[in-house]
Amino acid sequence: MADEKSQGITRRNFLERLGILAVGSSLAAMAGGIIAYFWPPKLEETPSEPVPAGTVADLKRSGGVTVPYGRYPALVIWTGRGPMTYSAVCTHFACIVKYHADVDKIICPCHDGYFDPEDGHVISGPPPEPLHRLPWYYQGPDGTIVSRPGTESDQPLSDDELEALEDEGEIFVGIPPEEGSDANAIRWLGERVRRWLT
Ligand code: FES
Repeated sequence: MADEKSQGITRRNFLERLGILAVGSSLAAMAGGIIAYFWPPKLEETPSEPVPAGTVADLKRSGGVTVPYGRYPALVIWTGRGPMTYSAVCTHFACIVKYHADVDKIICPCHDGYFDPEDGHVISGPPPEPLHRLPWYYQGPDGTIVSRPGTESDQPLSDDELEALEDEGEIFVGIPPEEGSDANAIRWLGERVRRWLT
């Protein structure tokens, strides 16, 4: 009888502890979610050799493509003012965003974040900042180079530059090779400092 009683108490204690553990785990998971919401992880891009993203004609046809760049993918989108290149890492929880040509929007599948393909700004949803720009350049069949390296990647093309982009020319994500890998590393470092300061 005493054994049954003590077994009953032990069982009850065990169940109580199990309950406390379950509640504790749920609270910890909730706290983790809240912390992650306010301080989301950042997946930083890494320096990369230039990556081809297709010809101007290809981009005009598809509207945009995703290509590997460094550790994470990059988006290359054809807009009315030439190509725009972004890191495909969402600025909210670092999910990978995609360009949807049918609605002409960049969409993050995780929490319905919408970005404008023209300049990467947030249209709706929880992302706290625009998509990060990446450098790009155009190489024409005759060797013409039009580039937007580093932070200049947000400067629009002039009419003359836009006209120089022939359909057969190729678009690359990155910095033109003649500027060398040192330029890539310096740009990458500069970008890290800029983000750290802002
Ligand atoms: S990760 Fe939340 S909207 Fe992209």
